[in-house]
Amino acid sequence: MRTPIIAGNWKMNKTVDEAVTFVREIRSGLNQQQDVDSVLCPPFVALSAVADAVRGTKVGVGAQNMYFEEKGAFTGECSPAMIKPFCQYVILGHSERRAYFGETDETVNKKVHAALAHGLTPIICVGETLAQNEAGETQEFVSGQVKAAFAGVPADKAAGCIIAYEPIWAIGTGKSATVADAGRIIGLTVRGAIADIYGEETAQKLRVQYGGSANPSNIADYMSHPDIDGALVGGASLKMDFVAMVKAAAPRS
Ligand code: PGA
Repeated sequence: MRTPIIAGNWKMNKTVDEAVTFVREIRSGLNQQQDVDSVLCPPFVALSAVADAVRGTKVGVGAQNMYFEEKGAFTGECSPAMIKPFCQYVILGHSERRAYFGETDETVNKKVHAALAHGLTPIICVGETLAQNEAGETQEFVSGQVKAAFAGVPADKAAGCIIAYEPIWAIGTGKSATVADAGRIIGLTVRGAIADIYGEETAQKLRVQYGGSANPSNIADYMSHPDIDGALVGGASLKMDFVAMVKAAAPRS
């Protein structure tokens, strides 16, 4: 049984004050949902304050990015050791990082290694563009992204990683993938790529989220698919909607 995991990617939203006010509003609601892992991913400057605000709850904290080097002349970057006191998770390879900030499969792979070396759980983002989707290239592209991200990662570490399948055309557009399509890509392509590298057992252990206009109205449908273990949520994670989504992700008995 894989524990559902709902992560909120706040992107470049909320000042430190706004972050703390919001976390105080949602933390008890999130904490009540003991059978779902919830993770808040604020901007770097709010990590410390958010970590303080969720202390004593089961709510997790994640960074939205980090650099793979330990320290040095890398202006504007944060190292794994810098974020580690505040986080258990780190989002790596989000499509916005890939599109606007030059992230490549190679840098994502280096970051995955660096995160694991520091005991951080990477949430590795993959997903195709609309053009790739329409050209029927989704499977090959997404499979390639997964395999590149995991290059050289040992099996015992791979099983604990999280992958977020986020079709780029669904991010922030209100146009979400159908449950059948998301489930098929996650089951066959994402887990398939992991199975190709590590075998079926590891592929069945690793948690895979859907991302792209996930919201309180569609989350239960995604969660009903046996291959979908949660969601990486952008817009809806900035509001009380996030608590509703975590509640809706609870396993049905
Ligand atoms: P969205 O963003 O939920 O606003 O579509 C998802 C993401 O980018 O992780």
